[in-house]
Amino acid sequence: MAFQLTPEQEMIRLMARDFAKKELEPFAGKWDREETFPEKAIRKMGGLGLMGMMVPVEYDGAGAGAVSYSLALQEIAYACASTAVTMSVTNLSSDPILKFGSEEHKQRYLAPLARGEMLGAFAVTEPDAGSDPGGMTTRAEEKGDHYLVNGSKIFITNGSYADVIVLITRIGSEKSNRGLSAFLLTKGTPGFRIGRKEDKMGLRASDTVELLFDDCRIPKENLLGKEGIGFKIAMVALDSGRIGIASQSLGIARACLHEAVAYAKTRKQFGKNIGSFQAIQWMIADTAAEIEAAHWLTLYAADKKDQGLPFTREASMAKLFASEMANRAAYRAVQIHGGYGYMKEYKVERLYRDARVTTIYEGTSEVQRLVIAREVLEE
Ligand code: CAA
Repeated sequence: MAFQLTPEQEMIRLMARDFAKKELEPFAGKWDREETFPEKAIRKMGGLGLMGMMVPVEYDGAGAGAVSYSLALQEIAYACASTAVTMSVTNLSSDPILKFGSEEHKQRYLAPLARGEMLGAFAVTEPDAGSDPGGMTTRAEEKGDHYLVNGSKIFITNGSYADVIVLITRIGSEKSNRGLSAFLLTKGTPGFRIGRKEDKMGLRASDTVELLFDDCRIPKENLLGKEGIGFKIAMVALDSGRIGIASQSLGIARACLHEAVAYAKTRKQFGKNIGSFQAIQWMIADTAAEIEAAHWLTLYAADKKDQGLPFTREASMAKLFASEMANRAAYRAVQIHGGYGYMKEYKVERLYRDARVTTIYEGTSEVQRLVIAREVLEE
């Protein structure tokens, strides 16, 4: 057992760190305040291979695997959590195209996504179907050489910038999860438009919108896999996606620790740096230990994926632990900053808001516990 990264993984981590330090960190606060989607930086990330890290080289990806992907995403999230979710959701859309797409889908969509020329999104959630995607009502009806889609999706990350969206809809009369199918929806498809943009607590530089379908005409060849496997496609994609959110959580938690330590070393109260008080030291120690645990749990899930082993349970464990941990880290970082931490002038205020959604999207902590418990009970 070797707890050691390969030279290639180290190199990717350093490359992502260097990029994030120069191109994201100095601007992340401004992007958050002004709700600016960092399109230019994201295009540059595409050029560096960061948008297709798990896509094989034959489809213009980096072919670097899930461990490298997690390491790079942690670095991006450390600097800008909004950019990290944009990167993570593009991977969430690439994964099902790689696993279930035809050769034509891979050439037309996967390769440009991997090159960073296209952005991706993943549309499952509806107003009345969040934790239970099986309850969705957006429906596709077969009409000759195309499907007509009617309904809506909400909270879709990258929605207004995405060139291709993995869209899950109901099809036919089957009411269970088996009645869902997946489509590749492209920008400009007739009958498809972007609805309201969400005004979010955090990740304010990421794009989160509603998608509206009014007799939206999707060509038959854009069906992903076959009819009736949409739920499975969503679950398989989310297994990988959850490694991404665990990695994003880790990046946020590391930034919280960095800010907390820097502040504790300079802030003086009672004639001493507050870092010399045990109350502060314990908070720093807890965060440092929990980051280490979340790091290895996340890389363990990623390594299982790289080895082609089942990793559903490990991905849920990593997502559950890392996201809850990031929220504790953010709470402590604000606490250490005292009143200053509550002010927008200090970075921990943004980190606190950015951390919050990690226990919610791509499956709430409650859903992760359900997935883990089912697997443990079945053993
Ligand atoms: N891999 C492959 N197949 C899977 C699977 C997995 N991980 N999980 C379930 N399945 C299969 C099951 O084997 C089963 O197959 P059969 O019908 O052939 O038996 C089928 O799917 C149904 O499974 P369940 O009975 O377990 O389904 P369920 O209705 O009980 O739901 C759940 C389980 C875990 C709660 C699931 O619904 C879930 O994960 N919910 C959360 C949804 C979610 O994460 N939404 C986030 C939206 S995307 C997002 O947030 C992106 C973003 O923009 C940031």
